[in-house]
Parts: sequence; C-alpha cells; structure tokens
Amino acid sequence: MILTWTFVAILASVGLGNLLDNIWIKTKNSGSTDSFVPNFVDSYTSLSKYQIFPADDRFIKFHIKACSDAFVLLSSDINLHSTEFYEICIGGHYNTKVFRRVKRKESQAPKNYAYLAPNLLSCSEHRTFIIKWEESGRITLTAGTSIVMDWTDPTPIPIQGVGLMTAWGSNGMWIVEHSSLFTGYYCGVTGSIGNMTLLSTSHNISRTHCSSECALSDDCLGLNFQLKTKECQFVAAWQPVVKYFAQDWKFYTKCLKETTMCLGCIV
Ligand SMILES: *[C@@H]1O[C@H](CO)[C@@H](O)[C@H](O)[C@H]1NC(C)=O
Ligand SMILES: *[C@@H]1O[C@H](CO)[C@@H](O)[C@H](O)[C@H]1NC(C)=O
Repeated sequence: MILTWTFVAILASVGLGNLLDNIWIKTKNSGSTDSFVPNFVDSYTSLSKYQIFPADDRFIKFHIKACSDAFVLLSSDINLHSTEFYEICIGGHYNTKVFRRVKRKESQAPKNYAYLAPNLLSCSEHRTFIIKWEESGRITLTAGTSIVMDWTDPTPIPIQGVGLMTAWGSNGMWIVEHSSLFTGYYCGVTGSIGNMTLLSTSHNISRTHCSSECALSDDCLGLNFQLKTKECQFVAAWQPVVKYFAQDWKFYTKCLKETTMCLGCIV
C-alpha cells in the first residue's frame, strides 16, 4: 500500500502563529535492553525524527506515563549513533532508582551510578521531568520540583541528540514540550484517516474552510476529510498520531516550522 502525502498552505491570515507546544510519543517496551547491550540505540526513538532539537536549548522537559524504566539518551550524535553518550534511566529497578550512565569509548562498558529515588514514575498518570545539561558539564534531573540528580562531568560530552525509550517490561507515553509556530501549512496523507479523538465533525464543508477552522484553534491538531461526502472531522491535539488506511479519506495535520515538522507525515 502506498500512501502519498502533500502539503497544503492555508493562506487565510487567521490563526497563524499559534503554538502547538507538545508532541505525544508512544514507546513500546524494548525488553531487556539498555546501553550495556549491543545495538541498544536501535530501541531508542530519536527526537530528531520529530524535528525536535533540544541541544539548541540544553534542556528537555517532558511528561511521561510509564510504570518503570523510562530512558533518556543524551548522545554526541544528532541521530544517536555515537559511542559517546549519557544514558539516564528514570524509575529503574522496579521504579526505585535513577541510573546515570556514561560511555566515552567503544571499548569501554558504560560507567553506572545509581541514585535511590523511589516511585518517580506512575502507571496511571503523567509525571513531569526536566533534564538540563550545562556547558560546565553539570547535568541535572528534576522530577516535579525536586532535583533528584545533580552531577558535574569533569570532561563533558558535547550533546547533539536526544533519544527516548522504555524497556524492561514498560511501555511509555511521552509528552515532549517544545515551542514551534504553526505557520499555516498542513501535510495531507491520501487514503488515510487519523484514528484519534475528535473535537467535532462538520458536513458539506470545503477542505479549505475546514482547515481554516482548525487553524483557529490550538486544540485542533488536524483533520480527517472525506473527499466524496465532504465530511470534515476535527482531530484533537493532546494525543499521539494513530492512522489507518481508508479509501476516499485524507488525513491532514498541522506542520510546524514551515513544513519541517508535520506529525501525520512523520509517524
Ligand atoms: C481505531 O482505534 C480503536 C481504539 O483505539 C481501535 O479499537 C480500532 O481497532 C482502531 N481501528 C482501526 C481500523 O485500526
Ligand atoms: C450535503 O449537501 C447535499 C446537496 O447540497 C445534500 O443533498 C445533503 O443532504 C447534505 N448532507 C448533509 C449531511 O448535510
């Protein structure tokens, strides 16, 4: 099955410049893996795939719902393919510890350090974390409002890429904060429908009308448009993108940063 995608610009002046300020990313349980295992990097989701580059700001803020073992990789490569990295495991060892790992050379095993930090993660609600890395080599992990890890690396690794993973039996739903402007572009996937929570549905409406309605609302992530019946479904923000094949439908999502970050066409 070949899905084609196209860009559509909404030239109305309304709604442009809205901020879509979070991206939902689902990570499946990667099993018994972490930076001690060969090819572990393949289990990480690189934020570069979503056109999110936290290296520019030296921090990442996210909310995650997972029972245990949520991993963040800070790598010297933008796509994570480097043997120089920090790995931070939140809710490790049955949600009792934070592990901080450093690896600098291919030939070395990662150096592991554990912090006692019970119940940072929750199976039922999103918890908020900030990881910050300063030029001086100081790295902090803040959980809610408390700093649970504060460490300075005397020989800092220049961080370019950030990856997310859940493992050891745990799935994760991440909400990564970022700030990007919606500048009026949509990306449309032909023969596809977003199987997601809707805000509302309109009938007998043109696609242009439908997308300018969506542009007005920060709560609207995009739309499902039925090409024949002109049914337009407004898809809610605040959820991960899930789509399936559906003839005569087209799934449009808002793009951020002109046309570089278009959720429906990435995922
Ligand atoms: C759409 O999503 C629902 C709920 O997640 C799921 O039960 C259903 O199977 C999905 N439909 C398709 C066609 O994938
Ligand atoms: C849409 O418009 C057509 C023709 O104008 C009409 O026959 C049809 O009933 C309308 N459908 C809905 C759902 O309003």
